[in-house]
Amino acid sequence: MNRNFALEFVRVTEAAALESARWMGRGDEKSADFAAVDAMRRMLNSIQFDGTVVIGEGERDEAPMLFIGEKVGKGGGPKLDLALDPLEGTTICASGGSNSLAVIAIAEEGQFLHAPDTYMQKIAVGPDARGVVDLSLSPTENLRRIAAAKKCLLEDLTVVILDRPRHSDLIAEVRQSGARIWLIGDGDVSAAIATCKKSSGVDVLMGIGGAPEGVIAAAALRCMGGDFQGRLVFRNDLEKDRARRMGIQNLERTYSIHDLASGPVMFCATGVTQGAFLDGVKFSSGGATTHSVVMRSESGTVRWIEAEHHFDRKPRY
Ligand code: FBP
Repeated sequence: MNRNFALEFVRVTEAAALESARWMGRGDEKSADFAAVDAMRRMLNSIQFDGTVVIGEGERDEAPMLFIGEKVGKGGGPKLDLALDPLEGTTICASGGSNSLAVIAIAEEGQFLHAPDTYMQKIAVGPDARGVVDLSLSPTENLRRIAAAKKCLLEDLTVVILDRPRHSDLIAEVRQSGARIWLIGDGDVSAAIATCKKSSGVDVLMGIGGAPEGVIAAAALRCMGGDFQGRLVFRNDLEKDRARRMGIQNLERTYSIHDLASGPVMFCATGVTQGAFLDGVKFSSGGATTHSVVMRSESGTVRWIEAEHHFDRKPRY
């Protein structure tokens, strides 16, 4: 994959962040999401490549744009698969909270798991604990292993968990183990990435979140040297049928980070609202500042990009 694509694609997440950030705190999730999707799609269609959305806004009948299977790009370039979320943390943005992002991951054709829009049990850790976590073990055993790998006490660990009733047993067990918990309202992609950034203070993400977000997080952690495992969680037979239609044969399978995102991958994210690892969009007279990260699994280079945008000089796409 041409390494310059990573820098092309950061314009895509910047555009989605700039448009959706206008809706921060305005209580209108739909408009915030639409703004991000529309901007991301326009920007993607200005890049010379043959793209297919494999993780997107949902199936064609429920998502008018950036639906799974949609072809994007100007054409006449490499064939690439995209796993994207124009606004990860729609509720966060609409309520003016922390850690909403515009994200896109890029891989060669066929390298992302075509995850159905269901839930996924996840565990994500940073490079220090790569290779020691295992979803088949109890949360306590995983925490013991992470603490040993990080040469710290289990009590020193901070575990991020989505604040949902489905996590009551998990939260009780983690509390019993002695580890600290950071409950988040939304945004587990950002939390997974935070495990790879020492200054975030986050050691591990545990619990059940969206499966598409799991693939996106796995791509990011591939670039940062972290680790991730996921297992699909279905609420009903309808979801199981949908998964089978999307080619998932073993519904019980535990996916490694490489099963979710294999081969060379690139990842770009731009902060929409302020967060633990990316600042949000800041508007000023006639312009705005964005904060993004661009990463490639091949080189492991992680670039933090602060961009100043001047709206009177922006091209129209
Ligand atoms: P959206 O971007 O679709 O708003 O997802 C936000 C999110 O919190 C994800 O980060 C997470 O994986 C998922 O929703 C959890 O789903 P639920 O809100 O149904 O528990």
